Amino acid sequence: MGNALTRRAVLGGALAISVATPLRAAVLTATPRQATGPYYPESLPLDADNDLLQIAGRQGRGAGEPLHLSGRVSDLNGGPIAAAGVEIWQCDAQGRYHHPRDRRGGVKADADFQGFGRTETNADGLYRFRTIVPVPYPGRAPHIHFKVVMRNGDSFVTQMYLRGHPSNDRDVLFGRLRDSQARDQLAVDLSSAADLDAGGRRAMFDIVLG
Ligand SMILES: [Fe+2]
Repeated sequence: MGNALTRRAVLGGALAISVATPLRAAVLTATPRQATGPYYPESLPLDADNDLLQIAGRQGRGAGEPLHLSGRVSDLNGGPIAAAGVEIWQCDAQGRYHHPRDRRGGVKADADFQGFGRTETNADGLYRFRTIVPVPYPGRAPHIHFKVVMRNGDSFVTQMYLRGHPSNDRDVLFGRLRDSQARDQLAVDLSSAADLDAGGRRAMFDIVLG
């Protein structure tokens, strides 16, 4: 800002406005918060790394469409939030959570799917996970829960959705979002990640902390 004021003093008039505008445009909108929901783990799994398809000591791989999920955690000015904890949790390919409260149908969750993972942002605020493309379950559109834990202990919780999924409008949370920008910020596009995993998909989910 000091820089813009200096330039305005030197240049004056319309040119000064065009110099100042990009500074204002760089300010981002905070990612909307969403409820934690009932299925945050009661106890964290022994293997809670950022590859949810491979559990330490098991041969099998979690069922479902592999998803290479990455993104950037930043502040409102686009500055990276480094060394923040990023956690995700989601249901398995059959819509089951690894959680004692999820008793729908009495079917156990996929023993080869981690269901929860944790990582840390690097110096550029980047994180990545290998998981599955989320699937719908009764009452909910496909979603992945996110929790970001800052170094000062503050945390931020939200949910990520698939852009254009037919069940989004009926979702109890996403369907109630009237603000199209909020919907936009919480939804991702899927592209191919066949270079990383057979039949794999890729998605980018950036999180802006207010
Ligand atoms: Fe959920």
